[in-house]
Amino acid sequence: MRAAAPAAQPDAYPPTAETGGVAARRYHARYGSVLPAIDPAAGSAPPAHRPGTPVLPLPFPPAYPSAPAGQGPSGGVECLGALLAALNGVTRVDWTGTGPSAGRAVPSGGGAYPGEVYAATAFGLCHYLPTAHALELLTGTDLRADLACSLALPPRERPELLLLISTRLEANLARYGPFGHRLQALDTGVLTGQALTLLEPAGAAPCAHALVADEESGRLLGLDPEAERVHAVVTAGPVGAIAPDAPLLRRRTARSGFEPAPVPLAAVLAVLDQAARPVPLDHTVPADLDLYVVANRVTGLAAGCHRRDPRSGHLVPVADGVGARRLFPPGGPGELAGFEAACAVVVTGDYDSGYPVYGDRWYRMLNLRAGVLGQRIGLAAARAGLGAGLRCDVDTRAADAALRAPRDRTTLLAALIGPERGAGTPAHQLLGPGGPR
Ligand SMILES: Cc1cc2nc3c(=O)[nH]c(=O)nc-3n(C[C@H](O)[C@H](O)[C@H](O)COP(=O)(O)O)c2cc1C
Repeated sequence: MRAAAPAAQPDAYPPTAETGGVAARRYHARYGSVLPAIDPAAGSAPPAHRPGTPVLPLPFPPAYPSAPAGQGPSGGVECLGALLAALNGVTRVDWTGTGPSAGRAVPSGGGAYPGEVYAATAFGLCHYLPTAHALELLTGTDLRADLACSLALPPRERPELLLLISTRLEANLARYGPFGHRLQALDTGVLTGQALTLLEPAGAAPCAHALVADEESGRLLGLDPEAERVHAVVTAGPVGAIAPDAPLLRRRTARSGFEPAPVPLAAVLAVLDQAARPVPLDHTVPADLDLYVVANRVTGLAAGCHRRDPRSGHLVPVADGVGARRLFPPGGPGELAGFEAACAVVVTGDYDSGYPVYGDRWYRMLNLRAGVLGQRIGLAAARAGLGAGLRCDVDTRAADAALRAPRDRTTLLAALIGPERGAGTPAHQLLGPGGPR
């Protein structure tokens, strides 16, 4: 998808017309790279729901491994329910200072969950209601072929399943101001990463599409373009059994912080290897993302900043004496978490290389990819028995300086990793092999 000729309105974000990257650059300089002024008292906008639409409750908890789609009496719907619960559903009850709350499969900046998931299947188009674990049946018409036409590069075979990931444009703005748009792009990536992680082992050969005709796909979904837009689509072939492993279902943010204790280098390398796996995308990327480790306490690795060499997977020292706390503004919660964590894994990328090819859309494409890696990092940490927490409250300038990032690169996302403090926040797992425990 080539960028159209630059147009007017470079101040609006998301831009009302393509500006060839001018609007995205300006947005990033003013809001996207600046620490958000967070209003903790502000709530999040309510999730999308269309009153009057037929609602199909799904069996809860879903059985894992689920029957492959199409097998069993209602295998298609049950398999879809199992997929959606592990993708964006409620997986646990958390007890925090403010009382019990529903913990979700994926993280979301500030817990605002601006993302919505729609599924286009042979039996029609539906919208997933995570807290009810139910499907809103928007139409019984099979729209898969029409929706595939809204992709710039549709798969050769008509996809068996399309997961359409939208974002509610106002969802987190009350709390984060305009910075919320960047969080929305990262959250879209997190959901996309989770969809790929679930569908790859189910043999569904998923592909993440960012080159989506937003207006056309939104029209087919009946979205109000001022309020909600489709920002990614994951296409899949025939889906086998959905069998998420226990760590995937256990993933959560290390809310009680980290024990300032060392972790082995092998665990950190395993996290990096997972993050660096190729992402199946509908577009070629002008430049890859880079991964860094800022080590506080990693056994077998010198304290300081290291860059992962993408060819060898080895860590190359970049700067001594830099601790993960240096990535965050002094005196804030990030600095303390950065001090306690064993290390930070930082994802950097290149904004400028993509604007000439993809126009303003590149901004969210790059952050989407960072979100995919962020989700992989969180899952890999859970698999290694470590706590993790994604952080967007990084001081971008300080982080870029600490990483000695090349001039064309900047920090997109950081994840803190370490042993979770004590037993962590009390939680009751709802999903998993054998159901609630
Ligand atoms: C893109 C992104 C950025 C985040 N940034 C921060 C952050 O700066 N500080 C923080 O404490 N948590 C951050 N989080 C974690 C969320 O607060 C957390 O995911 C959310 O409260 C839900 O909790 P859970 O991850 O335990 O399910 C971030 C999460 C995402 C996905």
